[in-house]
Amino acid sequence: MSRSYTDPRLAAVYDELNPPNAADRFYLDLAGDAPRAVLDMGCGTGWLACELAARGHLVTGVDPAPAMLDVARARPGGKTVTWITGDAAHLALETRFDFIVMTGHVFQVFLEDREIAAALANLRRHLSPGGRIAFETRNALVRAWETWTPERTTTRVHVPNAGAVDVHYALRSVDGPFVTFETRFQFGPDDLLVTTNTLRFMARDEVAKVLAEAGLDNVTWYGDWNGSPFSPESREIIAIAGC
Ligand SMILES: C[S@@+](CC[C@H](N)C(=O)[O-])C[C@H]1O[C@@H](n2cnc3c(N)ncnc32)[C@H](O)[C@@H]1O
Repeated sequence: MSRSYTDPRLAAVYDELNPPNAADRFYLDLAGDAPRAVLDMGCGTGWLACELAARGHLVTGVDPAPAMLDVARARPGGKTVTWITGDAAHLALETRFDFIVMTGHVFQVFLEDREIAAALANLRRHLSPGGRIAFETRNALVRAWETWTPERTTTRVHVPNAGAVDVHYALRSVDGPFVTFETRFQFGPDDLLVTTNTLRFMARDEVAKVLAEAGLDNVTWYGDWNGSPFSPESREIIAIAGC
């Protein structure tokens, strides 16, 4: 697993770098007002899970990175969610969920075909009859990685107990669908921490194929958080599927 999520110093930076956004609002609306059993897979530091719980849902947040879950447990509302250390392919709960959400491009950390298949099949097993799973992945056709340069991504965030941290991304390689990039965290003049991550990019038809193979169908597709339909130019592939 990437050090971006396992290192407590970096987990502490996550919320400052990734404040609540249009994706979170989209999934909150999708969950609806009626209380439901919700699974937030790859919940990270747990903002969305806590917000879902605050709206009356019965929420389970699952993530394989203990450092991320430590931040989640400590946040306001952290006691309103059941937190579990686990991952998409191996989680084995008796509970079945009306709504499973997997956001923050978690889907792109599944690199191999078999990982994708195992994750989707397992998430399907955790759906109650009529339940829906929703997630997004960046559209490969739009080549978002081309903007992942120091010039275009450098930002400074202020982290409690750590002070100012300068962060930027640097693309390392593109090998077919696999994009590898560094994230460089400068905590101080002599305190640089570098992580390397690889993400898989897919086209919409490939996502449709893996969903169908996992027995997930009736897919609704969007291309933007404002609810626009998917088009080949869309930055996001947003899929909402059931079984
Ligand atoms: C970019 S963060 C997204 C966190 C959160 N969903 C959000 O939107 O802020 C990616 C998360 O995926 C988690 N992750 C990594 N591998 C995973 C896996 N195999 N199954 C589920 N989650 C995974 C990481 O630990 C990390 O917390």
